[in-house]
Amino acid sequence: MSAGEQPLLEVSGLGIRLNTSRGPAQAVREVSFALRRGETLGIVGESGCGKSITALALLGLLPDNAVVSGSIRLDGRELVGLPDADYCKLRGNRISMIFQEPMTALNPMHTIGHQVAEPLVRHTGCSAAEAKRQAIALLDRVGLPDPARRYDAYPHQFSGGQRQRITIAMALACKPDVLIADEPTTALDVTIQRQILDLIADLVAEQGMAMILISHDLGVIAENVQRMIVMYGGTVVESGTTDAVFSRMGHPYTQGLFRARPRLGARKGTRLSTIAGTVPELADLPAGCPFADRCALVIDACRAALPPLIEIGTGHGVRCIRTDVALTPDPAGAVA
Ligand SMILES: Nc1ncnc2c1ncn2[C@@H]1O[C@H](COP(=O)(O)OP(=O)(O)O)[C@@H](O)[C@H]1O
Ligand code: SF4
Ligand SMILES: [Mg+2]
Repeated sequence: MSAGEQPLLEVSGLGIRLNTSRGPAQAVREVSFALRRGETLGIVGESGCGKSITALALLGLLPDNAVVSGSIRLDGRELVGLPDADYCKLRGNRISMIFQEPMTALNPMHTIGHQVAEPLVRHTGCSAAEAKRQAIALLDRVGLPDPARRYDAYPHQFSGGQRQRITIAMALACKPDVLIADEPTTALDVTIQRQILDLIADLVAEQGMAMILISHDLGVIAENVQRMIVMYGGTVVESGTTDAVFSRMGHPYTQGLFRARPRLGARKGTRLSTIAGTVPELADLPAGCPFADRCALVIDACRAALPPLIEIGTGHGVRCIRTDVALTPDPAGAVA
């Protein structure tokens, strides 16, 4: 980005506090990233790391028990604290989301045609006839067979893969600047996953959108985005260009995720490495490094305070106080 060029979306020091029955809990801390127009960013991490809650914060869709701090700017405009009426004008219009489970986004009581046309009428003010024409064209573009004839069908009359195509058409109806895809293929058959990811990639390139792709799968991230952040325990533990992170993983957690990924062609019977231990509850995070309980390199100082994000290359940051050890080829005890 040239000096002075403003990012499309800029998140800085994002925090999310949840008021739970056991008292307030800082579920998300120090999440910062910037997204330029037309750029793709991946968010990767195991289930429960805070990926979805972060995405919901960007859309102003957090539950009532959540309090957001820090800053989320879209084209320079602050979104934290924006009244819901103003958020409604942005959602589905300038920022859209594709959810993991298509039925989360689809209303079973309405025809699919109505659901794709509705944001067009609401945000662009076009006539019902024009919205229907555009909706059919969109459904055709996302690969739904015979969309004119099936315009008045209901969600349950489609397969899971077709339903996800319909939600993609809904999300793209108003040509948003930012598309957030939260595990868009996790609920689908493996044979369909590739097709849906390719469709999203084609549409993102065609419309020049910026995209945030959320996945627990490092392989999906490696193939689909230019830059990435790795989340753990509600914070960013590593960030950089996808090339930089994959060529030099600086955080013990990223290294563990990489070793744990399933490999094509692995010898039958090869044990899949996993990261020992479980993800901490976001409502009950330790004070220091959130990975401390699972990290082979932990020392007392790791538990004292949240480690700062240390730059190990241009734009490549790692939130660990022992990157020097973590980056040695075979850090003692760190190999699972
Ligand atoms: N409203 C809430 N109240 C309490 N805890 C919540 C709430 N929303 C999310 N969480 C916490 O966040 C965790 C899941 O975070 P999430 O962002 O969904 O993770 P991911 O998308 O990475 O799997 C849950 O395990 C829970 O601890
Ligand atoms: S700060 Fe310490 S516990 Fe955390 S990842 Fe680095 S070495 Fe492991
Ligand atoms: Mg999630």
